[in-house]
Amino acid sequence: MKTIYTIKELQNTLSEARLLNQKIGFVPTMGALHEGHASLVQKSVEGNDVTVVSIFVNPTQFNDKSDLAKYPRTLESDCKLLEETGASYVFVPSVEDMYPEPDTRQFDYSPLDTVMEGAFRPGHFNGVCQIVSKLFDAVQPDRAYFGEKDFQQLAIIREMTKQLKYHIEIVGCPIVREADGLALSSRNMRLSVEERENALKISQSLFKSTTFAQTHTIAETQHFVEEAIENAAGLKLEYFSIVNGYTLQPVSEWEETDYIVGCIAVFCGDVRLIDNIKYKGI
Ligand code: PAF
Repeated sequence: MKTIYTIKELQNTLSEARLLNQKIGFVPTMGALHEGHASLVQKSVEGNDVTVVSIFVNPTQFNDKSDLAKYPRTLESDCKLLEETGASYVFVPSVEDMYPEPDTRQFDYSPLDTVMEGAFRPGHFNGVCQIVSKLFDAVQPDRAYFGEKDFQQLAIIREMTKQLKYHIEIVGCPIVREADGLALSSRNMRLSVEERENALKISQSLFKSTTFAQTHTIAETQHFVEEAIENAAGLKLEYFSIVNGYTLQPVSEWEETDYIVGCIAVFCGDVRLIDNIKYKGI
């Protein structure tokens, strides 16, 4: 695996693959890699001739600057995991290379980006679209891989890809969980032993709610999860929304659509965790 530090070097390197008509798979990340990222890289390695993984902690998507400062940076172990997983190139650009001047572009994918994360983290998805579009321009992949844990991000990236007419197949990959159910996240490494124990209630409540949902209304299921989190030690619910999986808008009847997902954001101490569960659908 080769480490590449600049867009220019990346493009020179990939031009050879393109000349040979090789398929390029791309996995954008912010580092602090775990088995969830490894599953995206594996999928890309299986489906493409060349796999590029970017590691870039993107400042423009952090609405809370202390969150940016605390974001874990573990380049050495990240490269080890990528090497083992079979990535061809790891792209580690500088902020100056990605943002030679401030990016003033505004991305508006309303109503996808106005609810849930969009409502609680103003500007977050604008920053995500800024960096992902820049990375797409730099890598020009055939396929790009994103985790379904960031359910809303995946929907917005799909919409951006469509609207900006990128010829890139967006591949969504299932959430990877610890054996006890906690969704893998780079932020988990910031949890104390006690917080890690408390955080487990998030996935447990979501799993239990799928059984509950079979015999209850959406409003009752919503209340079931909210109550479980509010009564759990050390957790603070930011939102739990049961939404149409295509439009991300709240639903009120199970019959409304064939794709229904429950999305949650919870503070565990000062670590903000997200997760989601599918009630109905593809
Ligand atoms: O999901 C992430 O890690 C980030 O939002 C992404 C897509 C790499 C953009 O910085």
